[in-house]
Amino acid sequence: MDIPVKIAAVDFQVPETVITNDDLTKIIDTSDEWIRTRTGIERRHVLSGNESAVQMGILAAKKVVAKSKIDVEKIDYIIAPASVETHAYPSTACEIQAAIGAVNAACFDITAACSGLIYAMGIGRAFIKSGMAKNILLVATDAVSRCLDWTDRASCVLFGDGSGAMMLTVAEDGQDDILAVDLKAEGHYGDFIKMPIPGKNCPLVEPNEQEKMFVKMDGKEVYKYVVTKLPVYIEECVEKSGLKMSEIDYLIPHQANLRIIEALEKRLEFNPDNVISNIQEYANTSAASIPIALTEAIRSGKVKLPATAILTGFGAGMTVGTTVVRLREGIA
Ligand code: ACO
Repeated sequence: MDIPVKIAAVDFQVPETVITNDDLTKIIDTSDEWIRTRTGIERRHVLSGNESAVQMGILAAKKVVAKSKIDVEKIDYIIAPASVETHAYPSTACEIQAAIGAVNAACFDITAACSGLIYAMGIGRAFIKSGMAKNILLVATDAVSRCLDWTDRASCVLFGDGSGAMMLTVAEDGQDDILAVDLKAEGHYGDFIKMPIPGKNCPLVEPNEQEKMFVKMDGKEVYKYVVTKLPVYIEECVEKSGLKMSEIDYLIPHQANLRIIEALEKRLEFNPDNVISNIQEYANTSAASIPIALTEAIRSGKVKLPATAILTGFGAGMTVGTTVVRLREGIA
């Protein structure tokens, strides 16, 4: 079976609390100038009090359910790309299911770091194409601020919290919105970005102290990897889609560093007006960054619909996910 897939809705949720670069100078030796020139970031939204990645995910999920007008009981799967879950189990997807009442959905999380949404789109697309499911809710939600070493200036300035959701469904009109998906993983670069989970042998076996869970990143190696490999992987995906690069209207990349986005733009010869970045406002929100950027760009009119677009993400693993999509009017 080759059932066409529709991207029915996309939306996002971020916490209200905003931390500026200047705010960070109160706790680490940094400056607004260093952060802006090296990364493009100006602010980030972070969780406070009892807020959580799951709560943000629930709010984003409710928005796409409402927009897509799909009966919540007709959702077949909830897939949550989530690297910083509230619990190891139950899964983030199960917690979202309970909150929105998607009683008939099977639920699971996936770990592909910042490529998570594209990995989830690949899985959702395959499930719908094969006839295994009709309606699939994807919720990428991460609370990286809870897992940062706030004394490590090389990493803590780079991230923010956020959640992005997308509804995939059967395209009754026959127009396939996801033209190609290309997923890659190179586990031998696993040391570039790591978040060790604290876990120690029983203290009766070895005396030990529990460590905290922090993101550790070799920024330079990540940068080199991405600017060298990502353009090649994007070109491969575009070729799979049957379109030419010149036929694609927008490039919507993972928001990790403005310099990476500009390097992609140059290498792929994209018009800067058609390359989406909102890292200035949100920093790197991990798997949520692409749906946040996509939704905002549509709402602001920067992305004019209908359109074709490349969505591309990269992250710990190393993982890379790219998709070529058609975006319909009214999805955001
Ligand atoms: N403020 C001020 N100075 C700083 C800061 C800071 N926040 N952070 C580092 N520095 C200093 C360093 O100590 C170093 O000083 P030194 O020369 O005296 O030793 C100097 O700035 C240069 O540091 P570099 O690490 O060489 O800086 P670089 O130009 O490589 O930029 C950055 C660092 C922004 C992290 C860059 O490497 C980058 O963006 N890499 C890609 C990261 C990325 O894309 N991650 C995405 C994946 S995340 C995920 O998947 C979960």
